[in-house]
Amino acid sequence: MTDLDSFIAGLPKAELHMHIEGSLEPELMFALAKRNGVDIPFDSVEAVRAAYSFSNLQDFLDIYYQGADVLRTEEDFCDLACAYFERAAADKVVHAEIFFDPQTHTARGIPFDTVMRGLLAGMADAQARHGISSKLILCFLRHLDEADAFVTLEQARPWRDRIEAVGLDSSELGHPPEKFARVFAAAAAMGLKRVAHAGEEGPPEYVQEALDILEVDRLDHGNRSLEDEALTDRLAREQVTLTVCPLSNVKLCVVPDMAAHPIDAMLRKGLRATINSDDPAYFGGYVNDNYRAAAAGRNLSRDDLATLARNSFLGAFLSDEEKAAHLATLDAYLASV
Ligand code: ADE
Ligand code: ZN
Repeated sequence: MTDLDSFIAGLPKAELHMHIEGSLEPELMFALAKRNGVDIPFDSVEAVRAAYSFSNLQDFLDIYYQGADVLRTEEDFCDLACAYFERAAADKVVHAEIFFDPQTHTARGIPFDTVMRGLLAGMADAQARHGISSKLILCFLRHLDEADAFVTLEQARPWRDRIEAVGLDSSELGHPPEKFARVFAAAAAMGLKRVAHAGEEGPPEYVQEALDILEVDRLDHGNRSLEDEALTDRLAREQVTLTVCPLSNVKLCVVPDMAAHPIDAMLRKGLRATINSDDPAYFGGYVNDNYRAAAAGRNLSRDDLATLARNSFLGAFLSDEEKAAHLATLDAYLASV
């Protein structure tokens, strides 16, 4: 391990952009397929991994939704979450805000409550076993219509106290944030925070809509904001947290390679960028793999990495007291290395 790698390994951090269904490793996929008697179109773990070559977001989503089909019971969702938190703990993640896609499951006849109970059990286990705190972000699938999102929001209502925010994910191009203006307003009226994927493949106008129409508290990805100078200045001025996912960006061809990734440009422009894993089982690594790859590809300094970790706490949906406690732990670590 290089000095920088061990610095990253010990750096306390929050993860703010991680789809729990995207943490389904092929080994667990096979185990759940067997447990539930589900046929999967692969005959080995290696064959699954070999299929993970994508030329855009849709390529990935097709295989990602197919993989989620093995998730059937409360126990499956709990096992999935526990496996993620185990990896997160090893990466010094002390707080995680995780996305889940209920429509992927309810469309297959899995009750919303089954998904919730399983994930919450995994989150309670993470707190008890690893001391990791976590929150849930319910994502609406943007390739479906807004009426479907409204049905999902109603299913979430009894769980209001256990859900922190709503988000927007899936196929971005052709599905602008404006399409979900009414359901996001209804979520806001329920007291839920809002985030949205924007500017991953979609243009800067989608980022603008996420800010102005959905009134997001945080922006997921946001890479293409950099094409618009006024928008970039606004994001910096308003200190909007961007949840950036470097390995995902390379795997989905948002950037040609890590050497072309704008993570350092984001920091230099004063944007509140963070580093996250997105779909770690599909994109070749968990959060520390993302920190290491970005550091190597863009020659990031210890100060840059510390800023990224600091931003992860500043951008988290935590109270000022909780943020201060995490930042104090981070400062103590920085003073000790
Ligand atoms: N769902 C899971 N990962 C996603 C991503 N990177 N973009 C949009 N939707 C997603
Ligand atoms: Zn994502």
